[in-house]
Formats: sequence, structure tokens, C-alpha cells
Amino acid sequence: MSNKVALITGAGRGIGNGIAIKLAKDGFNIVIMDVLKEEDISDNIDLVKDEDVEVLYIKGDITSSDSRINVVNKIMDKFGRIDVLVNNAGVAPRNRMDILETTEESFDFVNNINLKGTFFLSQVIANKMISLIGKISDYKPTIVNISSMSAYTSSVSRGEYCISKAGVSMVTKLFADRLAEYGITVNEIRPGIIFTPMTEVVKDKYDKLIGEGLTPIKRWGYPEDIAKVVSSLCSGNFSFTTGEFINVDGGFHIQRL
Ligand SMILES: NC(=O)c1ccc[n+]([C@@H]2O[C@H](COP(=O)([O-])OP(=O)(O)OC[C@H]3O[C@@H](n4cnc5c(N)ncnc54)[C@H](O)[C@@H]3O)[C@@H](O)[C@H]2O)c1
Repeated sequence: MSNKVALITGAGRGIGNGIAIKLAKDGFNIVIMDVLKEEDISDNIDLVKDEDVEVLYIKGDITSSDSRINVVNKIMDKFGRIDVLVNNAGVAPRNRMDILETTEESFDFVNNINLKGTFFLSQVIANKMISLIGKISDYKPTIVNISSMSAYTSSVSRGEYCISKAGVSMVTKLFADRLAEYGITVNEIRPGIIFTPMTEVVKDKYDKLIGEGLTPIKRWGYPEDIAKVVSSLCSGNFSFTTGEFINVDGGFHIQRL
């Protein structure tokens, strides 16, 4: 097995958990960072542990500077390297509110996690990756950001979420540009409608929209659909690709007449 290490944020459940399982199958040792209590997601962590790799769970909040530093220190103590960062942790607004009524509190809640947390975790991990270059043979670190179809689609009842994901797309570009000189690639996946705890609360709405043909491929996406593409981006086959995004959305992005 390889001794490479992948850190996936928000991998306690949903898309992140699917990514962790797939990267474990690919042979990466896995670090899960999530705000959830370990005992509440032990079944999901066990699914990652089923693969023959080391799995480390670190309870932590990407918005907290202390948590971010703690994650780096724990990974370095245990593994001595970080090869992959998947910035997956994210939240929807607690309540969907029209942009004419939404609150600063909701704006800050969503953007603090999805955008600011992603930016500053990328910063601390990127600096650690840079410091490891030349010290580990065949070291080709990469970062994958999970943004959303909301990076470019208007949903006026959750504008703060759309803004946060558009921001994540700029985080992709900025870090791709800045880290290219070190050979660190940074790419992005834009999921469509994916069945997870985040979306199961709006299942009926999306069942109807998908049934009516909202997406050319008429089905929900699943965490595995995203995980397979993350796996490809981390395979080494995309070494001359950076600052790029891939829609994994059943064709939602196609403009149709
Ligand atoms: N489900 C979809 O349809 C969909 C579509 C597009 C994009 N996305 C994005 O994919 C990512 C994963 O979404 P999901 O559907 O699996 O959601 P989810 O709510 O099921 O999982 C998100 C995970 O992130 C964790 N998390 C939240 N805040 C955190 C923080 N501050 N620090 C660390 N961990 C934190 C949660 O505890 C949870 O385990 C999110 O960024 C989301 O915006 C989801």
C-alpha cells in the first residue's frame, strides 16, 4: 500500500464520507476532520476503516484557527506528510430566506464555514505541503475543492450559499495560481443535486424537479458519483491541469431550449 495521506473535511457523513471511502480504496491513509462527535458517526468511520489503510479521525472546525493548526500537527505526528486536501466541509443556511429578507447572521454563518474556513484551511495546508517538497520522494500534492452548481446558479432563497460557493471557485483559482510554482495542483468539483443528509430535508422538492427533467440525466447524484471524480483528480493523471472545475451534475449546467 502507498503511504500517502488524504485529509478530507466534513467526511463524517454525506459526500465527504463517500470521498473518504473511495480514497481509502485507492490506498490513501485517511484523515477525517469534522465537527461531529466521533461516536455519532462511528458507522461511517467504520466504512472507511474497512479498507486496509490507516484512518485518523480528528474532531475539528475549519473556522477555528486552533483546530486548523491541531489538524496539521496531528497529521504530521502520525504520518509525517499530507498529499491530498479535499475541502468538502460546508453548510446550507439554517433557514432558506429570500435575499430581500435574509440576515447578516445567516450570511456570516454560511460564509464563515464555506468560504473563510476553506480559504484558511487551504492556506495552512498549502504552507505545510510547500515545506515538505524536496523532503519526500515522489511527492506531488494536490487540493480538490467541493464547490457546487450554486457557484454559478442563482437561488434567491439561499443567496448567501451561492455567494459562498462562487467564492470557493475563486479560492480554487487563487491557490491554483499561487501554488503552481511548487507543482501543487488545485482543482474543483461542482456537484449537482446529491442525495445526502444536507438535501434529504428537501427530498420531495428535488424528486419533483428531477422527475420533471431539471437534469438531463434524470436521477439524484450520490456521494460515490463525486468520489469517483475526486479519485481521478488525485490519481496523478491530471498533473498538467490546475484551476479547473468539473461539473458532476447529471448535465444540469447545459443550457437547453
Ligand atoms: N448535497 C448536495 O446536493 C450538494 C450539492 C452541491 C455541493 N454540495 C457541497 O458538498 C459538500 C458536502 O455536502 P453534503 O451534502 O455531504 O452535506 P452534509 O451536511 O451531509 O455533510 C457536510 C459535513 O461537513 C461537516 N461540517 C460542517 N461544518 C463544518 C466545519 N465548520 N468544520 C468541519 N466540518 C464541518 C458536517 O458536520 C458534515 O459532516 C458541502 O460543501 C456542500 O455545500 C452538496
